[in-house]
Amino acid sequence: MKGVVLAAGSGTRMRPIAYSMAKQLIPVANKPILFYALDDVFASGVSEVAIVVAPDTGDEIRRAVGDGSQFGLDVDYVVQPEPLGIAHALGVAGPWVGDDDVLLYLGDNMLKGGVGSTVAAFRQLRPSCHILLSRVENPQRFGVATVGADGRVVELVEKPEHPASDLALAGIYLFDPSIWPAIESLQPSGRGEYEITDAIQWLLDSGREVHASEVSGWWKDTGTKEDLLDANDLVLEALVSEIAGEITATTVTGALAVGAGTELRGCEVRGPVVVGRSSVVTDSVLGPGTAIGDDCVVTGAELTRSVLLDGVQVETWKLRNSLLGRHVSLRGRGPDTAVPLMLGERSEVVGA
Ligand code: G1P
Repeated sequence: MKGVVLAAGSGTRMRPIAYSMAKQLIPVANKPILFYALDDVFASGVSEVAIVVAPDTGDEIRRAVGDGSQFGLDVDYVVQPEPLGIAHALGVAGPWVGDDDVLLYLGDNMLKGGVGSTVAAFRQLRPSCHILLSRVENPQRFGVATVGADGRVVELVEKPEHPASDLALAGIYLFDPSIWPAIESLQPSGRGEYEITDAIQWLLDSGREVHASEVSGWWKDTGTKEDLLDANDLVLEALVSEIAGEITATTVTGALAVGAGTELRGCEVRGPVVVGRSSVVTDSVLGPGTAIGDDCVVTGAELTRSVLLDGVQVETWKLRNSLLGRHVSLRGRGPDTAVPLMLGERSEVVGA
């Protein structure tokens, strides 16, 4: 089996951050989202991987992932020239996959329980396709499955207005080579994309075996700021304290991880909180669900459930549910109550 990891989506729902970086490289708990998928693929025993990239963000992803050896993987790259949907992206990687089975993993999806047991079941039972399902509160945003009383998948619909169930298709799929004629048969959907959901429906309609199982643990599509902050919370729940930097005159409750060369002075930390390398945080309150990247400077601020990318500077502001792009600068006095901000790279805000 080979792996195809999609990292070509442009991240329209992650703008403005995604204007200046690949959305798959936005960090969750200080690690790029895409790296979680690559780690999971490796853990499932698949080692040959193609990452499908877009022409404009491909180089950035190549620089971050390289030949894949840091993940124990052998990584190749395939360019999807136009953003024509997931099935199209997989189709572009088709010649690379050849006659093998394929594990398709959307590079902005995170799966706590991992895909290992699903890969093992697929290898043993050899259906045409295995999909992973997860119960969600907003099925309209996803591909949705109807599953019969016998556990068989009856129907799949992409982003239905009136969902027949709350079972969303997670963005992690296993296929045998019958997926290629299924992709060939597709017409673009209402949103102008070749939908993988329609390709799997084609397999069902042609009498192929499509297995489904519910994810164990949590699954997250990190497509929006809220989803990303949720994923950040979920990863940080399992944070193990580790202090490589220096901490002085600081009270800490809950888990705290601090990278090398980072200094925390006169702070109150209510974990789980992670701070990267070479950052300086002074006289600040860091609340649960906060991830501060490398080379940040935070002074007299209050941050709760917020993600700061590398090189961010925050003075005195109170933030909650915020996502700040690389090298954002917040100076002066912000509002008295904590604000939820999403700011693109190098934005500068000067308070009163
Ligand atoms: C895509 C798929 C959808 C699936 C989702 C999972 O949606 O089309 O079926 O449920 O990924 O993340 P998109 O992210 O393109 O809106």
